[in-house]
Amino acid sequence: MSFRIIGTGSCVPAKSVSNDEIAQFVDTSDEWISQRTGIRSRYIAIEETTAGMSADAARKAMDEAKVSPEEIDLLIVATVSADRFYPSAACEVQAAIGAVNAMAFDVNAGCTGFLYIMQIADGFFRAGTAKKALLIGAETLSKMTDWNDRTTCVLFGDGAGAAVLEADDSRRICFSAGADGSRGLALECKNRPVNNPFVKNEYELDHTHMDGQAVFKFAVKTVPAAIEDALEKAGVTVDDIDLFLLHQANIRIIESVAKRLNAPIEKFPIIMQDYGNISAASVPVLIDDQMRKGMLKKDMKVVMAGFGAGLTWSAAVLDI
Ligand code: COA
Repeated sequence: MSFRIIGTGSCVPAKSVSNDEIAQFVDTSDEWISQRTGIRSRYIAIEETTAGMSADAARKAMDEAKVSPEEIDLLIVATVSADRFYPSAACEVQAAIGAVNAMAFDVNAGCTGFLYIMQIADGFFRAGTAKKALLIGAETLSKMTDWNDRTTCVLFGDGAGAAVLEADDSRRICFSAGADGSRGLALECKNRPVNNPFVKNEYELDHTHMDGQAVFKFAVKTVPAAIEDALEKAGVTVDDIDLFLLHQANIRIIESVAKRLNAPIEKFPIIMQDYGNISAASVPVLIDDQMRKGMLKKDMKVVMAGFGAGLTWSAAVLDI
């Protein structure tokens, strides 16, 4: 038993911010950002929230899937930027869309989040404990960004992507996933410290910090290895794959992965120029984009891969 994707949707904030606009408040340029990253603009939340964008993307995905909210029995949101510590974004979405029969929870696995929740849903399908799952990757990273730090503020954006999955034993999916917490501080945002009547800590709310080169090296080494492992598990080769849907962090990372796999770069769709790095939302927004453009079609065999905070990674080989 595995699953197939029967509907997708996405939602981004109304405000798009260009590289030139960012260059008005930090020492950077459109040339530096676009050449080093491939990013030209990103959407930034003004009124929008993680749960609000999630619910909007979810409604579009359910409409396309022709599935009612009551039919959803599993609802998972991958996010590092839920609007509240609790309740979870998933429970907020459940209430907003009326998915009254769904078990609902969040997963924090950085930019790998959507791949991780696909694997979790696959486990539910295989166990026979879910028939229709609503998976969402959603972020408002802009609220955790230090807008004075040019090494990070040029990279990240906000948005949400959703997919409705249905149990289907005619499809195959193989994963290769992992984590290395010992390298986790390469990309972090601290929470509040302990603070109570017995311990007093002075603190300010933290922002995203990143050792960009360490994350870059991690990605270009780990992602091709995970993809090769997933291909081997699936018993297929790079040539059998129609599309490689990779987390959109940096175009140079994607080019390096394509080169290492000896796969044509044309098979790696790129959307980071318009979205920036939207972490857990990146892969589902890319899937939705490719569905809408007619590039992702039934019976294709694709690779999906994510990497990011944790450090975490995952690659999947699946039939559409
Ligand atoms: N504008 C202009 N200059 C900038 C800049 C910016 N926005 N950000 C950094 N620089 C400068 C640095 O200060 C440095 O200057 P120096 O040489 O005078 O010290 C120079 O550019 C080169 O910096 P470096 O960090 O070596 O650049 P890079 O080629 O490694 O690119 C990243 C930086 C962040 C784009 C790149 O490392 C990267 O993409 N890493 C992976 C990040 C990622 O994917 N994170 C999310 C994972 S999910």
